Amino acid sequence: MAEDIYLDHAATTPLRREVQETLDEILSTTFGNASSIHSFGQDAKRLLEESREVIASCIGANPDEIIFTSGGTESDNLAIRGTALAQKDKGNHIITTTVEHHAVLNCCKALESEGFEVTYVPVNNECLVDPTRIAGAIRPETILVTTMFANNETGAIQPVAEIGELAGKEGVVFHTDAVQAAGKLPVNVEDLQVDLLSLSGHKIYGPKGVGALYVRRGTPLHPLFCGGHHEGAVRPGTENVPGIAAFAKAMEIVIEELPESGTRLRLLKEKLASGLIEIISGVRRNGSKDTDKSLPNILNMSIEGVDGESLLLNLDLMGIAVSTGSACTSGATDPSHVLLAMALPPQLAQSSLRFSFGRDNTEAHVERLLELLPDIVARLRRVSAVRLKDRPGSVQT
Ligand SMILES: Cc1ncc(COP(=O)(O)O)c(C=O)c1O
Repeated sequence: MAEDIYLDHAATTPLRREVQETLDEILSTTFGNASSIHSFGQDAKRLLEESREVIASCIGANPDEIIFTSGGTESDNLAIRGTALAQKDKGNHIITTTVEHHAVLNCCKALESEGFEVTYVPVNNECLVDPTRIAGAIRPETILVTTMFANNETGAIQPVAEIGELAGKEGVVFHTDAVQAAGKLPVNVEDLQVDLLSLSGHKIYGPKGVGALYVRRGTPLHPLFCGGHHEGAVRPGTENVPGIAAFAKAMEIVIEELPESGTRLRLLKEKLASGLIEIISGVRRNGSKDTDKSLPNILNMSIEGVDGESLLLNLDLMGIAVSTGSACTSGATDPSHVLLAMALPPQLAQSSLRFSFGRDNTEAHVERLLELLPDIVARLRRVSAVRLKDRPGSVQT
């Protein structure tokens, strides 16, 4: 039987062996509460602070600027709502883009219902935002700009450093969601000129349910929870020390492996993109082809005349896992908000697949996909042609 092929690393990644070992060891040896002053607590505290140093050094930050959270969603919420609450006397206006992850978009929507105003800056047909449009939206009451570093559906890399510079000149706090970018691109908070930056463990071969928010010294932030004085009193709650140490281990390794891993992943992605365009008619690539404008591991393609979900299910039956969009929206029948924001017609947006590569993928995986997809597409196109022909009132030719 052919081996299963996992091509959904943007949704989540498997734990890598070294990370699993770290996790197992700490779970079985270091159970103390990092806030306790006895030696059990101090052992946990030491691991916590070592992990903080690792994460900080991976992104060019100071250890006291790292707040551990339960993952990307919480980091985004803490950054956005935390800024809104901390700066509500200064202003009520937030700027973001139309293609953010729902962790950002829905947080912004919730704040709108609480009296904040949000400007959603559009993107072009490559999913890229123009920094001057962000700058043009800044007004005296703007308290936050939040734009993602790399898009989870198309892999588009936003001009974050330019946006950071423009926001900084206006004295506006700047947040970026670097959940997909971390481990695929160098992430340095000074180069990017960010005040707040979100990270997540499970996208980089670390555990689920753990992440971090970088908070530049002096950036006002209101906690989302009431509780004790953990994490600089910004994120109350006993720290998940095993998860945090495993996250730090995962981060350390993915950073060490850059840029070799990026080169390898990009080769696989380009092989699949050119192969699909060559062997299947009516295929289009969604997002930029430029290497500096798209992540090395995410490829989004629309295949005319077939439903993305049907393709996904057919591939799944053959042991190949891909996605039709972001994991958080799968199950919903609406086309992706990201593809629609890039002005893709709804039908093409419904016909899209996201392939996201990871460290275990090989050229043989791409070849297998190229071998299987043409037949699946041809079969699904035949079925949908018959359905259209039989639909009452449809024109028969
Ligand atoms: C860009 C982006 N931001 C945030 C998140 C949420 O991260 P988490 O799953 O750790 O809550 C994801 C996960 O899909 C993501 O891709």
